[in-house]
Amino acid sequence: MARKPFIAGNWKMNMTAASGAALIRELIPLVKDANCDVALCVPAVLIPAATEAAKGSNIKIGAENVHWAPSGAYTGEISCDMLKEYGVEYVIVGHSERRQYFGETDEAINMRAQAALRAGITPIICVGEMLEERETGRTNAVLSRQLTIDLGGIEDISKTVIAYEPVWAIGTGKTATDEQAQDSIAFIRKRIGELFSPEAAAKVRIQYGGSMNAKNCKGLMAQPDIDGGLIGGASLKLDFATIVNYDK
Ligand code: PGA
Repeated sequence: MARKPFIAGNWKMNMTAASGAALIRELIPLVKDANCDVALCVPAVLIPAATEAAKGSNIKIGAENVHWAPSGAYTGEISCDMLKEYGVEYVIVGHSERRQYFGETDEAINMRAQAALRAGITPIICVGEMLEERETGRTNAVLSRQLTIDLGGIEDISKTVIAYEPVWAIGTGKTATDEQAQDSIAFIRKRIGELFSPEAAAKVRIQYGGSMNAKNCKGLMAQPDIDGGLIGGASLKLDFATIVNYDK
């Protein structure tokens, strides 16, 4: 079964309810004939305005993180139920900015991903190496370690989305080459095959993320193992529609 491509935006800590809703309204007619799944992951507080603006369109609204507990004393965190109240279908977990700046561990990422799956929300689980790790030949070892812990205990891996985001390519304008992205994503698929089964690995959608833009999206999307993109900077403007329409 062919994997349906999936292009998701990650607004990070950008936009407001008003500017975000305005962008979504502009994007709707531009992406309505997309052949891929389309989502925008937005700051939690913008979810109500974003879901309202996207209503009736093919743009799904996602979140940027979620906590593993159903409720409780976790100041600053958001639960799956809170997201589900707004019909959220996707949530990013383990983004490298969470790992780097907020001490997010692989164990916590795994708990977040499992909670999302239990709630029927698709986790977009991010993995990726730092520049120094790539330069010292440790990319595959890092990816392997992240996948082993992040995906531990997950029953149906095909219900997740994996995003390969080399940290050195995020927000730097320094995209991985088509070959680098393909090689690492093929490695991720192989590793998922070992951890689960080759059949399951063949079904998992794996996105590339890191300075993907309107110009380089075609080449990346042409790679056999790349099933989509996780788009930061370019999802804050109409370029996002060009990426969604990469096959036109
Ligand atoms: P970028 O971000 O497209 O701005 O590099 C990608 C991401 O962090 O998801």
